[in-house]
Amino acid sequence: MEKLAIFGGEKTKTTPYGTGKRFGKEELANLEEALNQNTLFYWFGNMTKRFTKKFADMYGADYCVATSSGTASIHVALGAIGVGPGDEVITSPITDMGSLIGILYQNAIPVFADLDPNTYNMDAKSIESKITPRTKAIVVVHLSGNPAEMDEICRIAKKHNVYVIEDCAQSYCCKYQGKYAGTWGDIGCFSLNDFKHISAGDGGMIITNNQDLYHRALMFADKNFNRLGTEVVKNVPYLAPNYRMNELTAAVAIAQLDRVEEICAKRKAYGDKLHAALHGIPGIIPQKIYDCAECSYWFYMFTVDEAELGTTRKEFVEALTAEGIIAFNGYIPSCVYQYDMFKNKTIYPGATQYPLDGVHGEAIEYKDGDCPIAEHVIDTCVKLTVNEFYTEQDLEDTIKAIKKVAAYFNANKK
Ligand SMILES: Cc1ncc(COP(=O)(O)O)c(C=O)c1O
Repeated sequence: MEKLAIFGGEKTKTTPYGTGKRFGKEELANLEEALNQNTLFYWFGNMTKRFTKKFADMYGADYCVATSSGTASIHVALGAIGVGPGDEVITSPITDMGSLIGILYQNAIPVFADLDPNTYNMDAKSIESKITPRTKAIVVVHLSGNPAEMDEICRIAKKHNVYVIEDCAQSYCCKYQGKYAGTWGDIGCFSLNDFKHISAGDGGMIITNNQDLYHRALMFADKNFNRLGTEVVKNVPYLAPNYRMNELTAAVAIAQLDRVEEICAKRKAYGDKLHAALHGIPGIIPQKIYDCAECSYWFYMFTVDEAELGTTRKEFVEALTAEGIIAFNGYIPSCVYQYDMFKNKTIYPGATQYPLDGVHGEAIEYKDGDCPIAEHVIDTCVKLTVNEFYTEQDLEDTIKAIKKVAAYFNANKK
């Protein structure tokens, strides 16, 4: 039995993780071209137009709207479908606040569906159980590049006549049954923030095949100004924010889009090998990726069975870290509905509990235990980083360290 690094043994990983340059001369050339246009406004320049065309073509979508962030994209999608005060929107309890922000700014009510214990994505049956006459949309999060069960979710949405918005912020080039995540629902939303597969600093996109939704999204991202005719119409029909993409962002985004397939292919090759290697280790429950799915691994998560593993998740992660592996106690600190703003009903500043004080007459409470499977995932998951620059050595070291640490605790159960 090898002595663990945490107890003074030799470290498994002695070389630094692979890194590389994300931006190059293509981004620079496009930036120069954008500046030479003498305008950085999306409606006058060509960069945002080129980017949206390229993005739509890549995804085989009829329409694409560029925005200022992934958060903005989801808000725009909600605005386009007409989500307003008191409407309910079903989403995931394990996600970034970006999935929720638009719902809350529309004064709508987030309703959380529980998760599949192994994909960590929303469970279709739980979604269906949360649908009420007030449900307007489902924001489906494809967590960490792993697609949710879109056939089932779309079937349920159609049955109940609710919209499906796909949050693909973490899921470029990922497919379910051969079809891209982002093209199953009514609208797909993406992020270009600096931590995503591709980056333009910040930025977002939405794709849709519905012309009405496209027109409304285009307007909603631009103060609800209507630029579709020859004159700009500024007599707006209802409130909308300014979430426009600018030409500099689009210039970088065009060049980044040329890289996205290669980036995702590298992450997929790395992630698939890591995923395969984690099967059969007592106490480690690998993530579930459907046979019909292609995952583009924004990160990789698995859960631990502490009793079988012989130690706590916390000690396991500490031991992995000591071996030189980048590992975390999960992705977010708790389920989203357990954040202070939901528990304390302080969504908006000031002395209001709106809309949780009972927009429909009954107060809304978010409580521990609302989504028990998601809470269990939060308590037991381990997050590993995946990156297109990681090497075979990084992969080998990660697998070796996990096996070494698990074997030690298996043999020395507390
Ligand atoms: C699942 C998910 N949704 C939405 C967002 C929001 O994207 P952005 O940071 O571009 O606003 C993120 C970003 O981290 C995300 O991971």
